[in-house]
Amino acid sequence: MKNILITGGAGYIGSVLTETLLNKGYKVTVVDLFDQLESSLSYAAQYKNFSAKRLDVLDAKKLREFCTPFDVIIPLAALVGAPLCERHEVLAELINYKSIANILETKKSDQLIIYPNTNSGYGKMTDNEDFCTEESPLNPISVYGETKVRAEKDIINSGGIAFRLATVFGSSYRMRTDLMVNEFVYKAVKEKCVVLFESHFRRNFIHVRDVCKAFIHAIENSSSMSGEVYNLGLSSANYTKKQLCLKIKEQVKSFVIIENDISLDPDKRDYLVSNEKLEATGWSPDHSIESGIAELIKYYETFAPIKTANV
Ligand SMILES: NC(=O)c1ccc[n+]([C@@H]2O[C@H](COP(=O)([O-])OP(=O)(O)OC[C@H]3O[C@@H](n4cnc5c(N)ncnc54)[C@H](O)[C@@H]3O)[C@@H](O)[C@H]2O)c1
Repeated sequence: MKNILITGGAGYIGSVLTETLLNKGYKVTVVDLFDQLESSLSYAAQYKNFSAKRLDVLDAKKLREFCTPFDVIIPLAALVGAPLCERHEVLAELINYKSIANILETKKSDQLIIYPNTNSGYGKMTDNEDFCTEESPLNPISVYGETKVRAEKDIINSGGIAFRLATVFGSSYRMRTDLMVNEFVYKAVKEKCVVLFESHFRRNFIHVRDVCKAFIHAIENSSSMSGEVYNLGLSSANYTKKQLCLKIKEQVKSFVIIENDISLDPDKRDYLVSNEKLEATGWSPDHSIESGIAELIKYYETFAPIKTANV
């Protein structure tokens, strides 16, 4: 049984990934600040193969000691999103870049690291490009994107596996309503209306459980996937913001979409992304944008959470 460490495992992706790995029989340890009032991992206490430790990844010495026994390390702990990192630049550098460098410093040759980067660094596509591939240049313009890209480079140089994630959607034990699909469905259900800026900008999306499926795929195929970076998104969901809203409107008929350039995208994201490289390794998604929207409608109608914008 593989012994897996997830840093930031109490977060949006981590709390679902922990469950997925436990159900597959992996031994999972989570380190996190656990600063939410109610733990997103309370369900996991029942699993014999689960353990957790409150640890700040900025404590380099403790983190390095702690990492030693694990076969696989999945470092999810981060300050996530451009607005948050813009407000806390130094902390973003320390958590998003330095804590990864610290893990790599004492990484043993038989330890596998699987890292989630953002694909926001692809930025705005040039006119002669069809799709962004893993070969396309990354030119991140936000502190968030820039710290993540540097960390990815170090991970790949050390033989790890990196995924460049599309914008993630779907329900989680630690919900994030600041992510585009989640936010637009929230608005459709709760506010009946969205004001779209840069409505023609193209984005791509991926369900949180398909992200987890890709992590497991990487663990199970590490010998052929190591040292490589893979785009991770739904090939059937390269949509403009407006097309996404129209998809939501198919299921929430009363949703009003207003276009007005009241703001600008901090990452200047307008791109189509190819996921062919990952698909060629045998990974495929289980969740469509339509089923994800239906899931989110049920989530927001039923649980009506207070909006938890991560900005
Ligand atoms: N959600 C997305 O759309 C997306 C897209 C691309 C990449 N990613 C990457 O995936 C990872 C997880 O993202 P998420 O959406 O689950 O975010 P999240 O904010 O929900 O989770 C981050 C977790 O890290 C923990 N954390 C933060 N600072 C810490 C510290 N100093 N010590 C210990 N734990 C700390 C937080 O408590 C939280 O549980 C991040 O690295 C993010 O950059 C996410």
